[in-house]
Amino acid sequence: MAARDRTGPRGDVGRRPGRSTLASGPSPRSATASPPAGPRAVTSLVIDTDPGVDDAQAIMLAFAHPGATVHALTVVAGNVGLDRTVANACTILDVLDAPPGAPPVFPGCPGPLLGSRVAATSHGSDGLGDGGFPASTRPVEAEHAALALTRLGRASPGALTLVTIGPLTNLALALTLDPDLPRRYRRLVVMGGAVRGTGNMPSPSTEFNMRSDPEAAAIVLGRWPELTLVPWETVMRYPIGLERLEELTSGPGRRALFLRRITRDRPRHVQAHFGVAGIFAADPLAMAVAVEPGIVTRSERRHVTVELAGPATRGQTTVDWFGFGGGTPNADVVLEVDGERFWQLMKAAVTGTPGMEPGAG
Ligand code: BDR
Ligand code: CA
Repeated sequence: MAARDRTGPRGDVGRRPGRSTLASGPSPRSATASPPAGPRAVTSLVIDTDPGVDDAQAIMLAFAHPGATVHALTVVAGNVGLDRTVANACTILDVLDAPPGAPPVFPGCPGPLLGSRVAATSHGSDGLGDGGFPASTRPVEAEHAALALTRLGRASPGALTLVTIGPLTNLALALTLDPDLPRRYRRLVVMGGAVRGTGNMPSPSTEFNMRSDPEAAAIVLGRWPELTLVPWETVMRYPIGLERLEELTSGPGRRALFLRRITRDRPRHVQAHFGVAGIFAADPLAMAVAVEPGIVTRSERRHVTVELAGPATRGQTTVDWFGFGGGTPNADVVLEVDGERFWQLMKAAVTGTPGMEPGAG
């Protein structure tokens, strides 16, 4: 990975070279915070990510979706250190046969705003399931991810959908640099939070992305007026069982082989910690909500904050379910989705099959 210098804005919000035009666009239904999208709209994505096994799946899902283009990846430390998350982002793009620099990869923050990084335990020591992948030679950008987030938003006002599937450090920094950032993006979808206190961390009421950088989460929740939140409990409603996992990973293609290698240890981890036979797909679920807002079948607009101080609860998201606190709702909390449609999108992520009909099946 060599760092590339960037002098001017990458202006257009267009399709990747060689991608087909949208056959059928997203069909927004119930998500109250989702903006309207016309039937032929293309969702142009900026993905803030800490790859990560399920980050890889999410990026694959976005690439395969006929109604989405991936405009940029901004990378943060999280599941593993920054060097590795950046390297993994490049590996994923290699698997997807993305041309060098398209989408560009912007390395960002190496750790949380305060304190030290919380390491994940379920992604292997390399963040990609110890799959033994060769080092990528793909170039990465010299520009910091937080600066790229502000620049990209300014260059294409109201056009880009931002999806965060890692700790919120890069975005918090970008918001600090440019408080007008929410106006510059079309939509923000965040994978994070345990909205009923049923988390996935040693401090059990917390979820990894929020727990990894609580101050950053507080900045984002406090300053972004209306975001879409895909919490851990919703992820747990839609596990991919062992039979379906086999179906996903047993195909002949490069993507299926990659998925097989990165997920081979996941079922053991999920069974040991959650007693579920299969895997959870947190980041792909958030990506599905971003590319097909209509996949959401139940959501609630609520005021969501994050706890910063409690020794057992630092990083816990708190939701004012009944409005007692009187805070203005700042998040559309996704509670249920069309599970079969999500499964279709997961399958397409592996086969790369275009032409899926949103909402079909
Ligand atoms: C989140 O934590 C990370 O380990 C995953 O990549 C996902 O973004 C789920 O809590
Ligand atoms: Ca992630």
